[in-house]
Amino acid sequence: MRYRMTVIGSGYLGITHAACMAEIGHQVIGLDIDEDRVRRLNSGELPIHEQGLEELLRRGLASGNLRFTTSYQEAAEFGDIHFLCLGTPQRKGGYAADVSQLDAAVDSLAPGLNRPCLVVGKSTVPVGTAERLAARLRALAPAGVDVDLAWNPEFLREGFAVKDTLHPDRVVLGVATERAETVLREVYEPLGAVPVLVTDFPTAELVKSAANSFLATKISYINAMAEVCEAAGADVVRLAEALSYDDRIGGRFLNAGLGFGGGCLPKDIRAFMARADELGAGQALTFLREVDAINTRRRARTVDLARELVGGSLTGRTVTVLGAAFKPDSDDIRDSPALDVAVAVEQEGARVSVYDPAALDNARKARPSLGYATSAAEAARGADVVLLLTEWQEFVDLSPEELGEAVAVRNVVDGRNVLDPAAWRAAGWRYRALGRR
Ligand code: UGA
Repeated sequence: MRYRMTVIGSGYLGITHAACMAEIGHQVIGLDIDEDRVRRLNSGELPIHEQGLEELLRRGLASGNLRFTTSYQEAAEFGDIHFLCLGTPQRKGGYAADVSQLDAAVDSLAPGLNRPCLVVGKSTVPVGTAERLAARLRALAPAGVDVDLAWNPEFLREGFAVKDTLHPDRVVLGVATERAETVLREVYEPLGAVPVLVTDFPTAELVKSAANSFLATKISYINAMAEVCEAAGADVVRLAEALSYDDRIGGRFLNAGLGFGGGCLPKDIRAFMARADELGAGQALTFLREVDAINTRRRARTVDLARELVGGSLTGRTVTVLGAAFKPDSDDIRDSPALDVAVAVEQEGARVSVYDPAALDNARKARPSLGYATSAAEAARGADVVLLLTEWQEFVDLSPEELGEAVAVRNVVDGRNVLDPAAWRAAGWRYRALGRR
């Protein structure tokens, strides 16, 4: 069944969802209130860095299955299904999620809904939001009770967004009616055999918060082990490898290093704590405070290692920062551990030169005071210490000999535990890493 649908919000999630829905044959209008973004998208230009997505966008536009608009009226008239893909960032001055973009989208869309349709939330939200929005839609839409709502959380990872959307490991459908379940099963049918879990609203909302909290906890767990390894003179990389053979533990998301950042994990664990507090269940999630604290400590520890390597003070030193994105294969710098470290080092009086294969423009805009270079070699020129903070393959593949020619002193901090210490030491580098001797 081919549906006419809209995808509201054209960020990392919305663009990916819109292009993938067009790819599997649906007719899609993507909406954003940013006119420039919409113009660029309509001309086939992807405003973000995401592997394979530009191709899909262009194919969707060319097939006539996909277009973008700023008009809620056009969207409301066109769609039988409306996906909500708005951001829910951390609220200023608090831990809770700011759901104002979502509320504004519902308020703009609802007055145009004058025939039966399905609104589907994909954003990560505090549990209880779906129930609240369902009531708001019923109250504001001329079609009233004929506007159905479902909650269908998204689990895609940046850098693998297209793959994760077209080949999800599961689909969670929080529904209140059989009709909503039937429609959504039909929407996703072209994806083939995927486990579909049908739940109520709060369970669907919580699955997402629980999944991201678990992932954050796994990363902070291994980073806590890294702290103990540092104190005991052990090696966290070997330790993690040994743990990984126990398939109850598993090796994925067990890479010790600078820890997690991005627009999801950090703000999601905080929003989850805030919401649990409101519900009177705050005690259940106090451990997430520790998860957050361990994560933040890794950033400070990375600065310590850099300072130690240059003899105790960063003032007046030249520091190379490799990586600005919060993870490789992305240009996203939201809560980026790499940029945080770069800024901290700069604040201690160092001259910092940052290079990233995709996130330079975003980094420059957000952190204009830092120095920037257009290649790793250029960033490394005259450096007293090189900090590898985002594990782009390009950095993993660096030749310690060649990079050694550019720097003033062969000092390296491997913030992601991706370099071969023996090879770097053999090339005359003093190598330091988190959780290793
Ligand atoms: C995360 C989840 O993995 C997705 O399932 C979820 O859909 C998404 O958030 C979301 O809520 O939208 P993403 O933020 O793209 O996806 O990034 P991850 O791949 O989860 O990485 C998060 C951070 O953890 C990165 O900074 C990464 O460098 C760090 N990380 C990851 C580690 O430090 N160690 C690891 O072993 C793995």
